[in-house]
Amino acid sequence: MQHFIDINQLSETQIYSLINRALYFKTQSIYPKYPQCKVASLFYENSTRTRVSFELAATNLKMQTINIDLQHSSESKGEIIFDTINTLAAMGIQVFVIRHKQNELPQAIANGCHDQSIHIVNAGDGTHAHPSQAMLDLMTIVEKKTVLSQLKIAIVGDIRHSRVANSLLHAFERVKVKELMLIAPEVWQPESVSYGRVTSSLQEGLSQADVVIGLRVQRERLESNEQFDLTCYRKYYALTRDHIAWAKADAIIMHPGPMNRDIEIDSEIADGSQSVILDQVKNGVFMRMAILETLQLANQM
Ligand code: CP
Repeated sequence: MQHFIDINQLSETQIYSLINRALYFKTQSIYPKYPQCKVASLFYENSTRTRVSFELAATNLKMQTINIDLQHSSESKGEIIFDTINTLAAMGIQVFVIRHKQNELPQAIANGCHDQSIHIVNAGDGTHAHPSQAMLDLMTIVEKKTVLSQLKIAIVGDIRHSRVANSLLHAFERVKVKELMLIAPEVWQPESVSYGRVTSSLQEGLSQADVVIGLRVQRERLESNEQFDLTCYRKYYALTRDHIAWAKADAIIMHPGPMNRDIEIDSEIADGSQSVILDQVKNGVFMRMAILETLQLANQM
């Protein structure tokens, strides 16, 4: 694996290999060391979880981390991202963890990169993909529920604009979950799906679900004709005690974060006994260790 851009690039075997490696790291206190590897973070959009967990993952593997302060970089003088990356690569940086608002920019950068020792990691591009989030979510589901092919999984919220949902959809298709429900008001439903069933009924979607994944209401990504009244959203789609009672009693409740508490998810659910939201965050470090290690090992092949 030279780059980590999209779930579509991974086979089912590669997905389980990353999950197993991440689960292994979680049981260890001493990790392999890759001190020759230099990892740069380029976050053109805000982030707490993804940025910090990639940096912690690299630090755990004794990689060198370079956090590019884009506010004070030569971006402000008009340098384009391709030149920024070539410049940093010339200084010896091999791994670039990139978050950007432009869909498919990490892929475009990878396509233009002819040096086999350079690795591009997609840390979230626009509304397109967030593959490391999907991988840590899969890891968490495997950890809590074991056999993915026996599960009914429900994703609730603004699926149309969610890069997390996009990547999860491809991941669930690859590992063949038993049933995938995509629940959203019509204005936030995906235009087409290759896997899963779309419904606007929360009750139908959550009925007997093993896993419930709430998405953030991404107000910053909505055009004026894509708005949905938040009071209505809460009434019909929020993860509340009454609504999650439609899922199985032992269903796990997930959310990629950041959460809008008491909008798409009630605090008593986010902090309740079925919530695995902080497990997701914790697993993010181990999954990102597995991703960085796999990229680093590609250099030795
Ligand atoms: N889930 C996620 O991508 O969170 P951050 O925006 O904090 O990285």
